[in-house]
Amino acid sequence: MANHDSASDSQTTRPAIPRLAILGTGNIGRALACGLVASGRYAASDVILTRRNVDRLADLADQGFTVLDDNRQATRQASTVVVAVEPLQLNGVLREIREDLDPEVHVVLSVVSGASIAAMQAQIDKAIPVARAMPNTAVALRQSMTCLAARPGDDRALGRAREVFDQVGMTVAIDEEKMVPATALCACGLAFFLRSVRAASQGGIEIGFHPEDALTMAAQTALGAAALVLDRGRHPEREIDAVTTPRGCTIAGLNEMEHQGFSSAMIKGIVTSAIKADSLYTRDD
Ligand SMILES: NC(=O)c1ccc[n+]([C@@H]2O[C@H](COP(=O)([O-])OP(=O)(O)OC[C@H]3O[C@@H](n4cnc5c(N)ncnc54)[C@H](OP(=O)(O)O)[C@@H]3O)[C@@H](O)[C@H]2O)c1
Repeated sequence: MANHDSASDSQTTRPAIPRLAILGTGNIGRALACGLVASGRYAASDVILTRRNVDRLADLADQGFTVLDDNRQATRQASTVVVAVEPLQLNGVLREIREDLDPEVHVVLSVVSGASIAAMQAQIDKAIPVARAMPNTAVALRQSMTCLAARPGDDRALGRAREVFDQVGMTVAIDEEKMVPATALCACGLAFFLRSVRAASQGGIEIGFHPEDALTMAAQTALGAAALVLDRGRHPEREIDAVTTPRGCTIAGLNEMEHQGFSSAMIKGIVTSAIKADSLYTRDD
């Protein structure tokens, strides 16, 4: 397959067959598909989506995606194969497609929690480049924090992973051993921050705002806080210092939250998620 190297080639020399297959189009697969098209780098017709209950992809078929219930056919039509099934379904899918994988053509990218590159390559049993990616569902809005890992020196796998996931947010390459912690911090983490936004909005309702207003105000405030950290590159505590006047209302609220275990709850939740993420995949199925 041709390389997909410039933003403009997707508009001018799009190949006749789709080039990226997502096997297992559930929550994350669907979000990724939408984000890739939103990037402008991929047309819907460049992306093949599979799941067994293919009827549930009818809306995506209407948008121009190719939808199939056949992983092998999807693999044969693509050069990049993103595997996005649940961990316990992974081995079966890899064994199903291995005959169709061509080392000259394919790169496999897995978003599956806990499954190592070595374990996946053992299932494929061929010299196919494999990389892992840990995105979150904000890929749909091109705002994911996605951690990537490949075997040391496997530039083809890492390069392909970057080519895909750079379109849908920020990426960082990490050692593979850190992929489980990355799952907890970045993939599960999205839910943790969403729950924080919900909690803030509930507080807002109690002090007088209508629910819709409270939610918008809480979410935009969270967005502003994240932007202060990311855009200025400063530690959160420095930004907190800028809004806490002595004997003021901010420090009073913050200290009350800490007395109730706010930071401790977040830390313990992330550690618990990391432990759980480490045990989701087994090679013995
Ligand atoms: N959700 C997240 O935020 C997130 C973030 C990062 C990574 N992940 C990882 O991504 C994977 C999927 O998570 P998810 O939340 O998207 O789960 P999900 O919504 O359950 O999606 C999994 C999909 O795989 C399909 N599937 C199952 N067996 C299949 C097969 N043999 N061939 C083709 N499709 C098959 C299922 O549809 P059918 O039953 O119709 O086949 C389902 O739609 C997990 O390994 C998870 O750890 C998820």
